[in-house]
Amino acid sequence: MPKIVFIDADGTEHPVDAKAGVSIMENAIANNIDGIEAECGGSCMCATCHCFIEDELAARIPAMESDEDEMLGFAAEERRPSSRLSCQVKMTDELDGIVVHLPAEQT
Ligand code: FES
Repeated sequence: MPKIVFIDADGTEHPVDAKAGVSIMENAIANNIDGIEAECGGSCMCATCHCFIEDELAARIPAMESDEDEMLGFAAEERRPSSRLSCQVKMTDELDGIVVHLPAEQT
């Protein structure tokens, strides 16, 4: 079972056993991670699942589609080069151990 390490804006780490085949957002919700709200349920319509993936494993994640790119413009916290919408990133066994930073605010 792959792992995801979520890190709060205050630096607290929350390692979780993740499920491959579903999104990083769904893994966050299933593990009660504060900081991922996912108001639209994963439809790429809200930007409240914003996260920062600076891990070198990010190179294994497919590039974002234009709808994710546009929606990131509505994120509450300023977008960075490492910004992704966690509902659009599928967890895989290849991403085992990935570190996902959470913004201080989502709305
Ligand atoms: S959950 Fe709404 S954009 Fe990701």
